[in-house]
Amino acid sequence: MTTASVNPALLQQLDTDGRLKHLITLEGLQRPLIERLLNRAQQFIRPLGAPPARSSALAGVTVANLFGEASTRTRGSFELAARRLGADVINLEVHLSSRSKGETILDTVYTLQSMQLDVLIMREAETGVPGYVARHLASHVSVLSAGESHLSHPTQGLLDALTIRQCKGGFQKLTVAIVGDIAHSRVARSTFQALKILNVGAVRIVAPQGLMPAPEEFPCCERVHSLEQGIRGVDVIMMLRIQKERMSELSVPDGTTYFSEFGLTYERLRLAKPDAIVMHPGPMNRGVEIDSEVADGAQSVIQQQVTNGVAIRMAVLEAVTEGLRRDWNRA
Ligand code: NCD
Repeated sequence: MTTASVNPALLQQLDTDGRLKHLITLEGLQRPLIERLLNRAQQFIRPLGAPPARSSALAGVTVANLFGEASTRTRGSFELAARRLGADVINLEVHLSSRSKGETILDTVYTLQSMQLDVLIMREAETGVPGYVARHLASHVSVLSAGESHLSHPTQGLLDALTIRQCKGGFQKLTVAIVGDIAHSRVARSTFQALKILNVGAVRIVAPQGLMPAPEEFPCCERVHSLEQGIRGVDVIMMLRIQKERMSELSVPDGTTYFSEFGLTYERLRLAKPDAIVMHPGPMNRGVEIDSEVADGAQSVIQQQVTNGVAIRMAVLEAVTEGLRRDWNRA
């Protein structure tokens, strides 16, 4: 399946009342909806060490995590988010499920649906699958993408936006540099979409020629091939991992050479504004795209991004089940 499911024309993400029903892409979503999600997520933030925010909003709701690619942060935070809202949660790894025995994706998800599934969270290496599944499941079931190939990772885009808003207060005056393997990065695409919807000042994409996206992608972004030039004077630096799993072995850059040209070191960080923040979606490859001194330094907000991930996923789960819960209350 190579046709892009992320075309919003193919998949209506909003229900007939204009509520968010599926979240497969941020493309095409309106600013008030994104802002509502960020505001709601902010209400779920608690200091580390304090009891986490909890509610019974999703009591009786069944959520399945179906992951076809490795994940620590995204899967863990979706699970915690669902549990903290009181949902029943089932976790399935594709290589351990019947899909590894040749079952089709639709048979797998219909099986889950028969167990009274309400929300399917899925990570897929193949493009098109989350949208395809959303079009085939019963109308009460929501599909949330937890990462679709190189195309889309909408909750990561939202949590990045929330982190930037917490640190910088807004978006309009900011220059954001997205650095690294942009060609293969679903995070770069979704975060760029979120920032665009939120009216960010400017986005620079910074990468070696071989890791730059196609010319028609990332419209209106300045494209810079040098890290030093790319981060000069910026407010936000977003570093990305080289997505080896989406490249042929021969095209994977050598780690040491890459670090010497595109690794974010403390010296280079001084070219950005003095109060610039450093972000990374994780997992990091220390010594390849980022130096440990920077990753663990005072300007790093990488752990804050992880905390925000749970809050954003709580806000999204609450939003997509609103219609369902209203129907239950009426019945
Ligand atoms: C990213 C992903 O899986 O797309 N990680 C994440 O979700 N936190 C980025 C990556 O794997 O490099």
